[in-house]
Amino acid sequence: MLGQATVQADFTLVELAEDAGVSIPTNCSSGTCGTCMVTLVSGDVPLPEVLPPGLDEDVVEDGARLGCIGCPKGDVDIDVRPPL
Ligand code: FES
Repeated sequence: MLGQATVQADFTLVELAEDAGVSIPTNCSSGTCGTCMVTLVSGDVPLPEVLPPGLDEDVVEDGARLGCIGCPKGDVDIDVRPPL
């Protein structure tokens, strides 16, 4: 799916994707389950100091971010992953 939204401070990837007409699947919406995992293709989605249960170092190295808690800084490109 292709979509585009204007980044607004403190909006999550899920919220911004919805503005762009793209649905990212969610479940817990708190960083725990990993359902909303996306792949960061370009740009910056800062990680929390302590990784939430829905992420681990291996998937982060592959570009994984959680749409429900990830707030991009500036323009980003993401790929939506199929639900786990
Ligand atoms: S919806 Fe569960 S980690 Fe995002």
